[in-house]
Amino acid sequence: MCGIIGYTGPRNAADVLVEGLKRLEYRGYDSAGICIAQSDSLKVLKRAGKIAVLREALDDQFSGTTGIGHTRWATHGEVNETNAHPHLDSKEEFSIVHNGIIENYQQLKQGLEHEGVTFLTTTDSEVIAHLIAKHYQESLEQAVRDTLFLLKGTYGIAVMSSREPGKIVGARNGSPLVIGVGDGEMFLASDVTAVLAYTKQVVYLNDGEMVTITSREFRTQDLHERIVQKQIELIDWELEQIERQGYKQFMEKEIHEQPESIKRGFQGRINYDQATAHLGGLNMSPQELREVERIRIIGAGTSYHAAMIGSYLLEQIARIPCSAELSSEIRYRNPVVEPKSLYIAVSQSGETADTLSAMRELQRKGARVLGICNVVGSTIARESDGGVYLHSGPEIAVASTKAFTSQLTIFYLLSLMFARQRHYSVDEGQQFIQAIEKVPEQIGAVLAQAQQIQDIARRYSGARNVLFLGRGKLFPVALEGALKLKEISYIHAEGCSAAEIKHGPIALINEETPSVFLIGDDFLREKVLSNLKEVKARKGKVIAIAVEGDQEVADLADDVIFVPHAWECMYPYLMVVPLQMLSFYCALELGCNVDQPRNLAKSVTVE
Ligand code: M6R
Repeated sequence: MCGIIGYTGPRNAADVLVEGLKRLEYRGYDSAGICIAQSDSLKVLKRAGKIAVLREALDDQFSGTTGIGHTRWATHGEVNETNAHPHLDSKEEFSIVHNGIIENYQQLKQGLEHEGVTFLTTTDSEVIAHLIAKHYQESLEQAVRDTLFLLKGTYGIAVMSSREPGKIVGARNGSPLVIGVGDGEMFLASDVTAVLAYTKQVVYLNDGEMVTITSREFRTQDLHERIVQKQIELIDWELEQIERQGYKQFMEKEIHEQPESIKRGFQGRINYDQATAHLGGLNMSPQELREVERIRIIGAGTSYHAAMIGSYLLEQIARIPCSAELSSEIRYRNPVVEPKSLYIAVSQSGETADTLSAMRELQRKGARVLGICNVVGSTIARESDGGVYLHSGPEIAVASTKAFTSQLTIFYLLSLMFARQRHYSVDEGQQFIQAIEKVPEQIGAVLAQAQQIQDIARRYSGARNVLFLGRGKLFPVALEGALKLKEISYIHAEGCSAAEIKHGPIALINEETPSVFLIGDDFLREKVLSNLKEVKARKGKVIAIAVEGDQEVADLADDVIFVPHAWECMYPYLMVVPLQMLSFYCALELGCNVDQPRNLAKSVTVE
């Protein structure tokens, strides 16, 4: 999605903005631009395409020390240089960048056109610049405030004016905005990664809040001019974590980080004496946790797949009825909130609009919603009633990998905690802990097969359709495998329960449509093997992900990738990793942009 960066201080603003925009690239964008305040005017540079193109076009004229920049992910108006932000008013005295969607822009635009304003772009955002110019009387803050009262929709904005050099005004309603507090310099950004190279001190804005930054200070207030006191928080991410560190792609780096990121998720959260998990941020007493009768988990995309696996784990291990639902669906079906139900919102970014809105709707109806997020200080993390951080470290590639396995880690810990409060013995708790502690090493063994997995990917990357099939907890893993493949290699893929293929998808099977089978070693193995034979009988090629030593599967499949033998509950961890690698190598083989796949954004802040 779109990204915002603003800077005021002693440095060359253009350098800071372009560097910040580079850091925001991972969010997904199609064009970019900056605006720099010169002595008494504003100078804008915009380009369609990559930041590198914008950087090349920069010259000495962009020499001011205050500016705003933007990466655009088109929603209204096609992708071109004109529609890229920043946008100016007609006299070029006010410049704005905007994330979000202005729903009533047509009406506002018509009104302005009647007054003689000429619009240069087909975006919804340009109205903001003209409205601010129209309302400006004595201060930029006042003009921005008067404009915000007219807007319907979502926004994170940064505004500057040649009339008040050295000042940037920001405001937030539905699109994140964070202030970076430096020493004699200030930043404004939609995402902390944009400012991490300069400061680790940040202040998160809430919806309905505005901020004014100058090089010396920041001032936060609400739309009624009441001062809002804010806490400065410290980001615990290191700059190296958002760099490739020798890898060509972030996705590859993040796949390989999983043994460590999973360990970070459970380390310090296991109570060995009591053989249980200790999750500090839940804000629930042991009594309240014991009284939970039902759990409902919501999420989108990969986080929804983690939610599905979480629901299988919580039901099987903790024996609590549990279900997972797409946040985009629950939001609009007027959900019934049951009194003893606990809701969990899962989101890597903590900013996904569908999940955030669903959470708010559930809270409005009286639900207690916990958040499972990776990004500290994100909106879901702050607005949920309690929750757990993934501690996965920043995930930069659009395709989620390590955040997924870290989300699983939290579900394993929750399952252990609830199970120990209910029916699990100390002995069972200890066995659980032993099993999860082995996972990082077992994933290491899967990663060590990179060459073999790349060879397999090379052989199948020409396929136009691929099926991913699994059962039980491996069914959501199949869904995740299909999502990974389609989003980064653009090969059409479908995930389904292996049992379901006979109800339809088997019609797709022929020599050209390979199937990836996930085969554990529990009671479902035999049934999945029958499905595999049905596919082979129709000349379908099979790649099997199976447990080491399963010779029968190796004999039946065309290709096999083995994962180490583990407790059956741990196979979602072990089997998703080869699927991530298969997708990664297929995309590489096809020459796709793995980290920034077309049309996708890292953090989906629009509905
Ligand atoms: O930040 P979130 O976990 O809420 O994001 C949800 C989805 O947008 C996300 O998982 C998406 O499906 C990824 N591109 C998957 O790789």
